[in-house]
Order: sequence, then structure tokens, then C-alpha cells
Amino acid sequence: ITTRQNIQLRGITLEDAPDVIDGLHACNQTSFQSALDNVRNMVGSPLAGIDPLEMIDTRPYCNALSDLISLDPVTQTRGNPVWGNLPRKFNICVSGSRDDFAHTHINDIGLQPTVHATTGEMGFNVVLGGYMSIKRVAHAIDMDMWIPATVQNAVDLSEAILRIFRDEGSRGDRQKARLMWLIEEKGLETFRSEVQEEMKSYGRGATWDKAQPKATEPFTRRELLGVHKQAQEGLSRVGIHVPSGRLSVIEARQLADLADKYSEGEIRLTVEQNAILPNVPDEKLSELLAEPALNDGRFSVEPGHIKGHTVSCTGAQFCGLALVETKNNAERVANILQQTISTPRPLRIHWTGCPNSCGQVQAADIGIMGAPAKKLNPETGKSMAVPGCNIFIGGTI
Ligand code: HEM
Ligand code: SF4
Repeated sequence: ITTRQNIQLRGITLEDAPDVIDGLHACNQTSFQSALDNVRNMVGSPLAGIDPLEMIDTRPYCNALSDLISLDPVTQTRGNPVWGNLPRKFNICVSGSRDDFAHTHINDIGLQPTVHATTGEMGFNVVLGGYMSIKRVAHAIDMDMWIPATVQNAVDLSEAILRIFRDEGSRGDRQKARLMWLIEEKGLETFRSEVQEEMKSYGRGATWDKAQPKATEPFTRRELLGVHKQAQEGLSRVGIHVPSGRLSVIEARQLADLADKYSEGEIRLTVEQNAILPNVPDEKLSELLAEPALNDGRFSVEPGHIKGHTVSCTGAQFCGLALVETKNNAERVANILQQTISTPRPLRIHWTGCPNSCGQVQAADIGIMGAPAKKLNPETGKSMAVPGCNIFIGGTI
């Protein structure tokens, strides 16, 4: 389970790949355009439609934006050449509540649910340009634009930004090709008015306003793990911890079986690499919590402040770019720390095997990034190259 709320499958042979791809397409899922200079999968709220504090149900937005990006408008099959060759990768997410579970500030386009101060209409403030990379980490900036919460507005906005980025973004230095660089080159005001002109040119009636004031009452992001009441009377969501986001085949089947038995087959994923079973009837909760799969193996519902908030990229076991192993170390270290210390609040430790920062160390309380290091060999008296780590602290999300 990745930090973009989706799944990466490992160990697939080339011979099996066509069947896997066809099987995904038969379930309206796709692996197309999930790498290279493409728009990555949409990230939305893991509590969409079940949250008592929901401001906007993100599902129709994510589905429509996924279709914009990856559905061929001519053939209606997955794989859309229109957006298949951008200057650089591109991330879009839609938040559904003040928790910002989708992490808008580290996406190229982030939609933050915000009520219009005058009309009371629900809509989105737009933030732009957030990303992580080897050279630069950028927090998204306010576009100073608000759009009413309609799917068409969100699609028109994203299409306009993508069109300008595709045709005018720099294709030179790959370290300076993400959306933020284009915005900085043009200036935010010019970029914004070009986006608005583009939206107008589509003639689909898109509307917008200046950014609306953010809610100011104190708010703390809620916990996704554990058992929580839903908006629907008599139903709960159950967040299941998946250590370092890694599922074995057996565990994947166990999770699927739990979903069949308790949540009508539905599983949600989180950017913290965990799973949620939605719509569990309250009277079935104690039976679910007593299931062997949640007690005898790696899964748990109350993993604690340290284990429950460890995040890890793929690392050396399966990623050719890694400088260190991450997932196995992350799980081991979390287990040891959890027994050794107690913390008054969740401690978010993120591991990433190389500076690409798929594990998003810059957003963690403690980030551990693989890096080359040298160690003195006392026998030879010479320095030897060994796997090492750079440590980051104090990131926020
Ligand atoms: C073996 C598989 C993987 C490879 C080869 C890989 C490769 C890369 C590379 C090269 C980048 C740098 C961005 C770029 O230059 O395009 C990157 C960024 C990123 N990857 Fe991965 N990655 C892998 C797995 C993952 C996994 C498992 C996750 C989630 C846990 C993930 C999430 C991300 C994120 C969040 C970023 C960074 C930031 C951003 O997009 O702004 N990747 N990845
Ligand atoms: S951060 Fe580096 S090691 Fe980890 S998955 Fe990404 S590319 Fe691989």
C-alpha cells in the first residue's frame, strides 16, 4: 500500500502481466500512466461518504478526474495519450474535510473544501505546486482561487492547468520541470489568469472566485486507525494497521475475507499505508475485533502511537534505486521503540530508501533517508562504503 493510497504489486512475471492488466481493467482499475511523466493516481478522503464531519464527498471528484486523466476519450478504454507525455510527473488530490487526509500541500493540485464566506456555498480553495524530490521540496502555495463544489468545475480547472503545464512547462532540466517551476516562471497572477482564460474557452460554464477564508476554529486531524462511529447510525469504520504498508499474499486474502464478512467487500486505503473497513454494523464489531487475522499476525486495530504511524517506501528489497532496506527495518524499529518508550501522541516515523523520498521523510516527525556513508574498518584502517541514513526531524503534515 503506497503513500498515494494505492497498491503496488510485486513479483509479477512478464508472462503474467497481460492477464494482470486485463484483470485490473475488468474491475475498472488500471496500472496505465502510473509512472514516468504522467498524472499519478488520484488521492481522496478515505472517509468519503461515511464521515460525520465530511464537507465534500470526494469520490465523484476522484472518479471524474481519474477518467479525465486515464480514460481515452475516443476509445473509452484506459490509457489516455492526451496526458501521457507531460514535462514531468504530476499529482492531484481532493480533500473532503478539515483533516486534509489527502495532504493537499504536497500535491501539484490540491483541492481544499472551503465554504464561500458570502453565499455559504460549498466549494474548494485551490493550492498548487507541492512536491518532493531529490533537489527541492516545495510546500503547495495558495492559488487565490475558489471554485464551487461541482465535478465539472474541478475537471475544468484540472484540465486547464494540465493543458498549460503540458504545452508550456519546461522540458529541459528535469529537476526544474515540476508545476511549481512553471508557476514561478510565469508569476502566480499570470498563471492564474491564464488558467481562468483556458477554463472560459471550454465554454462549459465554469465559475470561480477569489480564495475564501479558511475556517479558524481549532481542529485536530482525527485518527484513522481503530474503531470510530460513522455518520450512519449503527455503522462504524475500523482502521486496520498494515505494518509498513506491506501485505503478503496471505494477508491480502485475509483482508479481503474480513471485508467480505464485515464491510460488504469494501476496503479503503490511507496515505499512511493502512486499510479501513467501512460500514461495519455495530453488532458485528466484537466478532470482527476477535478475528484471528487481527490478533495473531501482523495486523492490528490499536497498534499504538509509534507502530501505528510508521510509513515506509519500498526500499532495497524490491526497488532498484534504494540505498538501504526500509520496510523490514521500519517494522523492526517500530516494534522495538513501541516496547521501549511511550509517547503522548502519535510519533510519525517515515523511512525512505533514497532521496526520491517516496516515503515522504520531509513531512515526518522523524524521517530516515537512505544515503551513502563510510565507516572505518579497524582491521585495514581504511574507510569502507556502507549503507547510511540522513535524519530529518520536525516535519508537519
Ligand atoms: C520500486 C518502486 C518505486 C520506484 C522505482 C519509485 C521511483 C520514484 C522516483 C524516481 C521518484 C522521484 C520523482 C520522479 O523523479 O519522478 C519517486 C517519487 C515518489 N514516489 Fe516513488 N517509486 C517507487 C515506489 C513508491 C512507493 C511504494 C511509494 C509509496 C509508498 C511511492 C511514492 C512516491 C512519492 C510520494 C514520491 C514523491 C514525491 C512527489 O511525487 O512529489 N513510490 N518515486
Ligand atoms: S524512495 Fe527511493 S528507494 Fe524508496 S521506493 Fe522511492 S525510489 Fe525506491
